[in-house]
Amino acid sequence: MKVDVSSLEVISPKVQISDNYIETDYEYQTSHVKRTANGRIQVHPETAALKIRTDRRVPKLGVMLVGWGGNNGSTLTAALEANRRQLQWRKRTGIQQANWFGSITQASTILIGSDEDGKDVHVPMKDLMPMVNPDDIIVDGWDISSVNIGDAMKRAQVLDVELQDQLYKSLSTFKPRPSIYDPDFIAANQSDRADNLIKGTKFEQYEQLRRDIRDFKQKSGVDTVLVLWTANTERFCEVQAGLNTTMAELEASLKANKAEISPSTIFAMASIDEGCTYINGSPQNTFVPGLIELAEHKGVFIAGDDFKSGQTKLKSVLVDFLVGAGIKPVSIVSYNHLGNNDGKNLSAPQQFRSKEISKSNVVDDMVESNDVLYRPNEHPDHVVVIKYVPYVGDSKRAMDEYTSEIMMGGHNTLVIHNTCEDSLLASPLILDLIILGELCSRIQIKSNQRADAPWISFKPVLSLLSYLCKAPLMPRGAQVVNSLFRQRAAIENILRGCIGLPPNSHMMLEQRFDFASITNEPPTKKLKSAAANSCATELNGHVAKVSAVTSNGHYANGNANGHTNGRNH
Ligand SMILES: NC(=O)c1ccc[n+]([C@@H]2O[C@H](COP(=O)([O-])OP(=O)(O)OC[C@H]3O[C@@H](n4cnc5c(N)ncnc54)[C@H](O)[C@@H]3O)[C@@H](O)[C@H]2O)c1
Repeated sequence: MKVDVSSLEVISPKVQISDNYIETDYEYQTSHVKRTANGRIQVHPETAALKIRTDRRVPKLGVMLVGWGGNNGSTLTAALEANRRQLQWRKRTGIQQANWFGSITQASTILIGSDEDGKDVHVPMKDLMPMVNPDDIIVDGWDISSVNIGDAMKRAQVLDVELQDQLYKSLSTFKPRPSIYDPDFIAANQSDRADNLIKGTKFEQYEQLRRDIRDFKQKSGVDTVLVLWTANTERFCEVQAGLNTTMAELEASLKANKAEISPSTIFAMASIDEGCTYINGSPQNTFVPGLIELAEHKGVFIAGDDFKSGQTKLKSVLVDFLVGAGIKPVSIVSYNHLGNNDGKNLSAPQQFRSKEISKSNVVDDMVESNDVLYRPNEHPDHVVVIKYVPYVGDSKRAMDEYTSEIMMGGHNTLVIHNTCEDSLLASPLILDLIILGELCSRIQIKSNQRADAPWISFKPVLSLLSYLCKAPLMPRGAQVVNSLFRQRAAIENILRGCIGLPPNSHMMLEQRFDFASITNEPPTKKLKSAAANSCATELNGHVAKVSAVTSNGHYANGNANGHTNGRNH
C-alpha cells in the first residue's frame, strides 16, 4: 500500500484511522417537517448518530467511453495524456500548460476553516479525500467510427495544433472497439461515420459488450471499470408495460430482439451485469424503469443524465439567484448554435427533442420553492432553441434572455452571450463524474447506536453527481435538486463528513460575536490549545499532497494507491 505524505490532518477523537478505512462518528442533523390539519408547519429538528466509513484503498481505475472517438471522448483522452505528461505548448499569446480547469475535483477548493488570524483556509477538493489521480486512469472504449483517437482528436478541431502534434503519436495507438449502431436511435446524418459495428441480435451485441469489458479489465489489469456514455444523443425510447417497465420485461425484450431497446440501454445493461458503474452523459432516457430496477437489484451505480457544462449550468445558477433574491423570472429564452458533430446530430427533430426535454426542467424546483412569487403550477415561459451552424465548430454560442418581474410591476431583463467551447467544458466535467462516481463506491454509513448495524452504500441511483448533470436522475421518491449551489454543497459537505468535519454552515459566529466573552479566550487561541489535546482541526499549508496515516485516531487524508481491493464498483 502506498501512503503519501499529507499536509492535511483532522485531529479529532471522532475520527479513527486504520490501514484500510477512515471512520468518523458523525452527528447528522436534519429537520423533519409536518403540516398540521389547520395548515401550520411543524418543524422537528432531528439528529442521527452515524458512522461514516471511507475505504482508503484507491483502485486502479479503467474507464470505457461509449463514443470514444467523438469530440468529448478524444478531448478527454488527450487531456489525460497531456496532464499526465505535463505538456506545454506555444499559443499566439505565450506558453500554455496542460491543466484541469473546469474540474471541481482538480481545480476547485473547499473552505476548511479559519486560521489563527481569522483568515479562510482552502484546500483543493482532490486533497480532501483519497481519490483516483487522473494520471492513473486507463481509458478504452467503443465507437461506431473506426477512426483512431489521434485522428479523432484532429477531426474534433478542439485542441491547439501544437498540442495535437505532441499527442498524436500516442493517441493514434488507441482504436475504439466496434459498437452498436441503430439508425433508428441517432440521427440519419451520422450514417457515414458508422463503419465499426457489432453485428448480430441485440442479445448478441449485449454479450459482446460484456466480453469487451472483461477483455479490457483483464488486459489492462485495472481493478474497477466505469462505463460512460458520451456518444451521440439518441431519441427517447418508448416506455411500455411488457417492454421495459420491469427488470424481467427488459431482459425478456433484449432476448426477443425488440426494436425499441436502444443501444444505450444495452450498454447500461451490459455494464450493470458486469458490476460496472454506468454514467449517461446524454439526454436520452437510457434509464427506463426496468433498467433502474436492474441496477437496484445488482447494487450497481447508475448516474445521469446529460452533462451540465454550459448554458444549463449558468441557468441553474441564475434562476437560483433570482428566485432566492425574491425576483420573479417570467420568461427564459435560450438560443444555441453549434457546429460540431453533436450539433449535426441534434439538428434532427427527434434527437433535438431529447435535448429539449433535458434542458427544460432545470428551473422547476427553484420555481416551486417560492410560493410568494409563484402560484401553484405557475411557471416562467421557458423556450430552448438549438441550431446547427457548421462554421462555429465546437465553439457553441448560447444566448439567453431572462425577463423577471421586480417590485411594483417593474421588469429586469438579463441578456447573456456565452461562448462555450463545448468539449473543453465537458471533458473536465466527465473527469469529475468518473472520480466522484468511483469515490462514492468507497463510502458507507451505518447507525452509530447499534454495534451490529450493517454498513450501507449510496443508493444505486447516484444522485450526488447531480451537480454534473442537466437532468439529474434521482432515486425513487427523492426530489430533484437543480440549484447548482445546493448540489455543490451536498458534495462538499459529504466529503467533509467523511473526514469528520461539520457541514460548512457559513455562520461564522466567532467573527460576528465577541466570542472571547463566551469562552474567556479568543477562539483561535482555544483552537490551538485544543489541538494540543488532540481534539481540534489543524491544517498545515493549503495545497496539500496526500496522506500519512498517523497513529491514535488522527486522520491524514490520502491515497493508498497501488493497493487492489478487487471490488468492481
Ligand atoms: N458540452 C458538451 O460537449 C456536452 C454537454 C452535454 C451533453 N453532451 C452530450 O455528449 C455527447 C457527446 O458529445 P460530443 O460533442 O463528443 O459528440 P460527438 O458527435 O463529437 O461524439 C459522439 C461520438 O459517438 C459516436 N457514436 C454514436 N453512436 C454510437 C454508439 N451507439 N456507440 C458508440 N459510439 C457511438 C460517434 O461516432 C461520435 O464519435 C452528445 O450526446 C452530447 O449531446 C455534450
